[in-house]
Amino acid sequence: MPTLNLKATHNVVKDYYDTLKGITTLHLFHEGAVSPAFAALLRYCSRQYGWTLVEKSPLKRGNRTLYPDGTLFDDFKIPHGYWEAKDTEDDLAQEVRKKFATGYPRDNILFQAPDRAILWQNGNQILDEDITESGRLIEVLKAFFGYQPPAFERWELAVEEFKAVIPELAAGVLKLIEAERATNRRFILAFEGFMALCREAINPNLSVQAVEEMLIQHLLTERIFRRVFNNSDFAERNIIAREIEKVIQALTASHFSRQDFLKSLDRFYGALEAAADTIDDYSQKQTFLNTVYEKFFQGFSIKVADTHGIVYTPQPIVDFMVRSVEDILQREFGRSLSSKVVHILDPFVGTGNFLMRIMREMKKTALEYKYKNEIHCNEVMLLPYYVASMNIEHEYYDLTGSYEPFGGICLVDTFELSEDKQIPMFTTENTQRVNRQKQSPIFVIISNPPYNARQINENDNNKNRKYPSNDKRVAETYAKDSRATNKNALSDVYVKAMRLASDRIGEEGILAFISNNSFINDIAFDGMRRHLTQDFDIIYLLDLGGNVRKNPKLSGTTHNVFGIQVGVSINLFVKKENAKKKREAKIFYASTDEYWRKDQKYEFLDKKSHRGNIEWKEICPDKNMNWSTEVLSTEFETGLPIGTKEAKAETKTETIFQIYSRGAETTRDGWVYNFNQRIVAKNVSLFVAVYNDEVNRWHSRTDRQADLDSFVLNDDTKIKWSSRLKECLLQGQRAEISHDKIRHALYRPFCRQFLFFDAILTHRRGQFPYIFPAPTTEEENRVICVSDKAYRENFSVLMADVIPDLHVLASSDTFQCFPFYTYDEDGSNRQENITDWALEQFRAHYSDTNISKWNIFHYIYALLHHPQYRETYAANLKRELPRIPFTPDFWGFAEAGKQLAQIHVNYEDQEEYPLGMLENDDLPLNWRVEKMRFSKDKTQIVYNDFLTLAGVPPETFEYRLGNRSALDWVIDQYQVKTDKRSGIVNDPNRSDDPQYIVQLIGKVITVSLETMRVVKGLPLLG
Ligand SMILES: C[S@@+](CC[C@H](N)C(=O)[O-])C[C@H]1O[C@@H](n2cnc3c(N)ncnc32)[C@H](O)[C@@H]1O
Repeated sequence: MPTLNLKATHNVVKDYYDTLKGITTLHLFHEGAVSPAFAALLRYCSRQYGWTLVEKSPLKRGNRTLYPDGTLFDDFKIPHGYWEAKDTEDDLAQEVRKKFATGYPRDNILFQAPDRAILWQNGNQILDEDITESGRLIEVLKAFFGYQPPAFERWELAVEEFKAVIPELAAGVLKLIEAERATNRRFILAFEGFMALCREAINPNLSVQAVEEMLIQHLLTERIFRRVFNNSDFAERNIIAREIEKVIQALTASHFSRQDFLKSLDRFYGALEAAADTIDDYSQKQTFLNTVYEKFFQGFSIKVADTHGIVYTPQPIVDFMVRSVEDILQREFGRSLSSKVVHILDPFVGTGNFLMRIMREMKKTALEYKYKNEIHCNEVMLLPYYVASMNIEHEYYDLTGSYEPFGGICLVDTFELSEDKQIPMFTTENTQRVNRQKQSPIFVIISNPPYNARQINENDNNKNRKYPSNDKRVAETYAKDSRATNKNALSDVYVKAMRLASDRIGEEGILAFISNNSFINDIAFDGMRRHLTQDFDIIYLLDLGGNVRKNPKLSGTTHNVFGIQVGVSINLFVKKENAKKKREAKIFYASTDEYWRKDQKYEFLDKKSHRGNIEWKEICPDKNMNWSTEVLSTEFETGLPIGTKEAKAETKTETIFQIYSRGAETTRDGWVYNFNQRIVAKNVSLFVAVYNDEVNRWHSRTDRQADLDSFVLNDDTKIKWSSRLKECLLQGQRAEISHDKIRHALYRPFCRQFLFFDAILTHRRGQFPYIFPAPTTEEENRVICVSDKAYRENFSVLMADVIPDLHVLASSDTFQCFPFYTYDEDGSNRQENITDWALEQFRAHYSDTNISKWNIFHYIYALLHHPQYRETYAANLKRELPRIPFTPDFWGFAEAGKQLAQIHVNYEDQEEYPLGMLENDDLPLNWRVEKMRFSKDKTQIVYNDFLTLAGVPPETFEYRLGNRSALDWVIDQYQVKTDKRSGIVNDPNRSDDPQYIVQLIGKVITVSLETMRVVKGLPLLG
């Protein structure tokens, strides 16, 4: 570190004291007046080191964010020192104590007042100087800028530090690469050649950014391999690294030298390397590599982490799966992992832990042959490809005592391999490896495939890639044989991986995957379940649970074995030589306790060791391919179907309702819903203008090859894309605003909002153009909204007289709506939607010709509220839409249903429950709500600072819809909310009716009490 060149004669020092003198004369002693002068001095000194002084840059310390007055950053955003300014009237020593108490770092931090400076370095106070004299000031600054952090003593500390700076380091390298791409001719050529190679071998649409990231991955890790792992030849030995080195040579050939670049990172690498020298244990270093793997992607390439499922598989899972495969090989096939001809493939190898574990399981005498011939794996990202290569080679070295390059690893997209194309794969040797793998009869596939159904927000432009052959296989099998309406879940990568792996194994073999467990139970996977039973002979499903969305009481970090939100299972599929017989798998299921923490689940796997020690329950799939272990009631089948797809398509009429529809799905609630009609109009005007501009821009583009997702404006404050909106854009459809498209809608229970309802801006309108085509139909038409199959929260039902939202009664569920009337789109031609067939069934059963369609409508509404109905048929209702049984007392139900309908539809006209009004005498009258909350015992509602509502009766909370009581919904929905991505504000306060919310609370309490009174009085089911 060069010494700071600063003398008392330098203008910058003179200027500092002159400025200070001026301030003193004017008696401006506060911090704001003094600190700019010192900041100017620091800036001058920083330039000598190529650093930048950033004022008030946020500094994360645990849960807190601190804002030091100044931070000295280098080009890689690595901080080298902190500065805190105080004014002369502060007691500086006391200020220092205060700052440390709030968590300020003690490593190279300078506390400065005009007359005094205190410097702390490496946890100790180094200087406490009077700086009114320039000599002392310079001494302090020299110590501050000349600080060399001590080498980290412990490996863990070094790793921790390294981990934290990976994203910044990567961003720093990216900056350098981009600068070179603008100016360095040789590099530009090398980069283009390399990109063409990558596009050909990996993905024809690979972005420039993805290729740049490969170079970053290479640069960051190459030194780790060389120095931390003492693998100095890695870059020469590895067939891919060798190729990339050529590009790196071009990058570093001109004025930017790799040595210089790495030098600036010495502080971090150095610490690691020093610590690494003292550690012989490879496994400890290897843990570090796993950390780099996850941190690089999760901290720097977040989108890739998402689409590629970059997550490390915990060792107890790997151990259990490998031992289970060995056990199955022995029992079912009389073979073992060591047997010749048992080819093994991990198609998504990550850091290589499955294969390393398999090598340890093998007989050492068999290892050489297996390693050279029968162990295969693929990886599509460079960093894990390097890590896996090195790990596997090291494992082999450890087990055999000799080094042998691992020729079974391919840098390739596994899904490309089923695309039946003969293309060069990066390098000749990689292509040869790929071909060798393709020709190998794979017997065991073991892996943790990525899982990611689809991007949640179209603006993120981060879709899963399409693979024509594999996608077609999924479409022709899993999707074709599914009865589900919504099959989106089948686009999940893990589904593609299962399809691919099932096809890849020949007439016999084992497929062991740890994956998302949604295929075991969810509706969309019925076709997939059917095919899995036909493709295999034995299936073991060990459900490790952890689905936070299904059970919000769980925490992903605590309960899920990967620390994620979706449920997980270990799945073992066995295919036995069976050419003549039709396969029909025996399915065995077991699960860990729903509330076990992940450590308990790991312990369980360790203790059980392999599948032979698990107590399995056999599942007998029903005709609809349900694998549930829940008990389905067979009696359910005897009820009349409330709605069927066949009736909807008018091919069959044996149903109660002719048509039904999911609630309106916008995919852009923030933009098209609002409590305020004018704001909906304003937001939609902006949206429509931007959308129409994008339509014009697209259709007049010059680059005919442009990729739509990357072409369009992905600015959350201007537009929110969906697949439908992009379809409309492609078709050149322009959006139009008109006042009559702003409709009333039931957004959540007892929460009406305005909705812009339109063929282009509403993602899926369902049948609502025929149910509520015009506001006039709201006077007479009614819909019963019911939890759709596969619901997660409590089964719920509510009647509405306006368009309901798709998630009307629970944000995580969807709802099907059954209307009484239907119309033509212009509002004419009103038809009753309950079929004549249904009317006949009811009249015949009860021998009563007085029964009308409205009576049936109300009968159904009451029946769906019946607690015993919901309990008895809970499992059925998760599989199928409700069926309606005949009960002994038709009129009892019909009358109760009519009452419930009246209370629910006219909730705004109910009497207000008399609540106490506790006022804050110190504040003026205020009806405005920001965010209401309950008191702990839920007997009071803190409405705002001025008003508390008292005396909420406890029975109110018995009336529940989805996961909340009706009153909870009101408290939750009626708050001022700002949509995070668009910044749009939704304010429920009404200037025309300031007491609306307070009155609504009283009314919804009445609704709740009345509902429960009616429900408790319902007749018996049977
Ligand atoms: C869940 S991780 C594997 C974890 C691994 N068992 C471990 O613990 O290190 C999935 C890996 O598959 C890779 N991958 C994703 N899609 C791929 C594809 N289409 N072809 C090959 N590899 C892929 C990802 O880069 C990632 O490293």
